[in-house]
Amino acid sequence: MSGDELTTIIDQIWVGFTNAVNQVEHPWRFPVLGTQGINGPDVRTMVLRSVNASIREITVQTDIRSAKIPDLRKDPRVAWHFYDAKSKVQVRAQGRMTVHQNDQIARDAWFTIPEANKRNYSSIIDPGTPINNRELGQAVSGSDTDALENFAVLSTGITSIDWLQLRSEYHQRALFQWTGNDWDSTWTVP
Ligand SMILES: Cc1cc2nc3c(=O)[nH]c(=O)nc-3n(C[C@H](O)[C@H](O)[C@H](O)COP(=O)(O)O)c2cc1C
Repeated sequence: MSGDELTTIIDQIWVGFTNAVNQVEHPWRFPVLGTQGINGPDVRTMVLRSVNASIREITVQTDIRSAKIPDLRKDPRVAWHFYDAKSKVQVRAQGRMTVHQNDQIARDAWFTIPEANKRNYSSIIDPGTPINNRELGQAVSGSDTDALENFAVLSTGITSIDWLQLRSEYHQRALFQWTGNDWDSTWTVP
């Protein structure tokens, strides 16, 4: 196994992330975000919204009032989990999260969101609040400005990737770590 193969793998990972943004059926479109926060570790499914391979950045969108935000403010270190059941490839990626609210990044993303989806950010009661009647949790059509106030882009700068592929003949695993200039890569024991 040569270093060229490792380079191909890291390149394919970023191509996969990028494709997942645009292809609704892509297995990596709904990665799982892991955080460690006030009440301990937590995970949740997210929609991958943008990828910029040149700066190793992936973004998702969320409601600024959600519980993950104080967790991220306490500790911005995060882990992402991507899994493709067909190829049996798992990618675990780690990095630091930046929360964008009311800045140019959030506003630029907001204007790309379909009108119907903007309502997801307009619930009157904060996400996660217990309610007596589920109707109370539905988003209301309100002003776009109010919804924009609740809207956040979460951006992760990826610095470490653990890639694993299970195969009937043999399993293979590789670790990629960002040195500041390049990916330092090595095969590891699966
Ligand atoms: C298919 C799917 C996609 C989701 N995408 C997002 C998303 O892009 N952003 C988001 O904030 N929550 C998304 N959620 C909801 C989260 O998994 C989670 O329930 C919510 O963000 C609250 O998490 P928190 O309490 O940890 O903040 C999605 C859930 C599912 C099932």
